[in-house]
Amino acid sequence: MKGHIFLVNPSHPLPEGYEPPSLSPALPGSEILLESECASALTALLGRIDAWDKIIPVSGYRPHNEQQTLWDETMRDYGEIFTRKYVAVPGCSEHETGLSVDLNEVSDDFKYTEAYRWLSENAEDYGFVQRYPEDKQEITGIITEPWHYRYVGQAAAKAMNAKSLCLEEYAAGLMDGSLEMPRSE
Ligand code: DAL
Ligand code: ZN
Repeated sequence: MKGHIFLVNPSHPLPEGYEPPSLSPALPGSEILLESECASALTALLGRIDAWDKIIPVSGYRPHNEQQTLWDETMRDYGEIFTRKYVAVPGCSEHETGLSVDLNEVSDDFKYTEAYRWLSENAEDYGFVQRYPEDKQEITGIITEPWHYRYVGQAAAKAMNAKSLCLEEYAAGLMDGSLEMPRSE
């Protein structure tokens, strides 16, 4: 799947040694990096409400070895069942593409915040979707993560939300021709 809608999960691992084509600070001055178009979109999204002090990126691009360390430490501390639900297998994490960003609290409580409600209404306008929704856990294999947003581009984000599709479902629909390729991709 080309452009920003490519699917990354355990059935669709990244090519070995994958590196994003270009990386930029997630917001001006941030030490967190994102793929450059994703970073511009996030800056535009959060700039819209002058929200940089209310909504902040806490994790973005993770090189493969960082995802491996996260996986190993979570396995050590919490065991395999927990780890497989919360952490993508190294080589299969969207964070390795720089197209995903974790916002504010990496906690279930994030979904009860004003910031979360605001993102739920506005993120799609800037090409972001909540990647691991509560009602798609059986398809994504990942527990609901209200903090994890994935950049797919505006047209894809709007199409996914309009039909309540997660990326696995959306990519399948594009592949079998039941969904139209978004025009901007
Ligand atoms: N927490 C998400 C699934 C990741 O590790 O990429
Ligand atoms: Zn994440």
